Amino acid sequence: LMPPVGWLNDPNGLCWYKGRYHVFFQYSPFEANGGLKFWGHYSSEDMISWRYEGVPLLPDSIYDCHGVYSGSAIAEKDKLHLFYTGNIKMDGDYDYINNGRQSSTLHVESADGLHFGTKEVAVSCEDYPENYTCHIRDPKVWKEGEEYRMILGGRQKSDQGAVLFYRSEDLKNWKFDSELTTEKAFGYMWECPDLFNVNGRSVFVFSPMELIEDTDGYADRAICMLPEFDEKTCTMKFPENWQLLDCGGDLYAPQTMTDADGNRISIAWLRMPEPVDGIWQGMFCLPRVVDVQNDHIYFRVLPAIRDGFCKKTDSLVSACGECAMIRAELKEGESLEIGGYKIWRQSGKVCADRTDVYPSGAKGWLHAETPQLKEGDLLEIFVDPNMIEIYANNGEYVLSQAVYGLGETFSYKMEKKPEIYLWNE
Ligand code: FRU
Repeated sequence: LMPPVGWLNDPNGLCWYKGRYHVFFQYSPFEANGGLKFWGHYSSEDMISWRYEGVPLLPDSIYDCHGVYSGSAIAEKDKLHLFYTGNIKMDGDYDYINNGRQSSTLHVESADGLHFGTKEVAVSCEDYPENYTCHIRDPKVWKEGEEYRMILGGRQKSDQGAVLFYRSEDLKNWKFDSELTTEKAFGYMWECPDLFNVNGRSVFVFSPMELIEDTDGYADRAICMLPEFDEKTCTMKFPENWQLLDCGGDLYAPQTMTDADGNRISIAWLRMPEPVDGIWQGMFCLPRVVDVQNDHIYFRVLPAIRDGFCKKTDSLVSACGECAMIRAELKEGESLEIGGYKIWRQSGKVCADRTDVYPSGAKGWLHAETPQLKEGDLLEIFVDPNMIEIYANNGEYVLSQAVYGLGETFSYKMEKKPEIYLWNE
């Protein structure tokens, strides 16, 4: 998914409601380099064919007139509820960290998933705890037993990233419950927190700002981990180990939902350095099923999408012109090149270089690599004109990157010829 025109960032309000998937997104339709945020909306029956539904949330109230910021959806008792952050930036001499900004948590309801009612304040910015700056945002709401829970991302006055938990019995009245931060700062602000269960394990996904210091690439990265989370008391213990959501560097601000079959699906924003054809900028990665096995979080492309790439072709070059899936058994020391994008295997890691297919001088890592793969050498590579996603070893690691202008070349130095599959309409 990409914006019809203009700018897209975070996925918002992901849900399955009345037989359709809904994907809302941070949208600046008038500015391809970002600006005032609206919520754009796509819907789909199968997460393959999408319909653009327009702009259901506009920055048109005193609580959100400087941006309808990120948030989530929950379907309850026949209604769809959206929770999001209303951004207000006051005019004046402010630092916009400790003053000059308001970020209330707002709530709207819908009976059809397309039209939304009156904006109501669920948590007023005046009611946030004292030890926080004005940066509290991105509510994610879910149901726990008969109660509802909300997790919000925040920046404490000590410049530490944190999350805040709220509870409600009716989705209208919310009470502050608890908070979590780390002893040593792990980024100064945690954006877009998400907490859910997979195979009996709690998975925490969030996007800490300035996690990586002194970098020419992106300092803000999306992280996932397996904390101990007590659902009853709403307390979380931060684990020692964590994983990058994706090794390519570009993915940020992911959000998850459960699909019609109960799978946990993650979608994230692929950051891009400049507009394509001067018209649009920002994409979503393919929907990924989240799995937890042996203390590791796996991300696998949605089976319906993977299975749709079933038209085998002998023309290797066709991988660069259209959307394609490449299956490659990439062994140590071997390499392949797709339209100028280079992939190779070294020290057990999958490495990639996009120098030749990325705007020169643009922000973002040119070189990226996975950690050492535990076993196996099978890569499934999804190629789109503006994005390459490499799934290594059945989703043990994924490496996704934005690309510009793939050439019509394909070469490989591999024992076994890669197989190319095109989309089967
Ligand atoms: C993350 C983010 C969110 C915010 C939104 C504004 O990319 O900064 O924290 O709600 O984008 O567009």
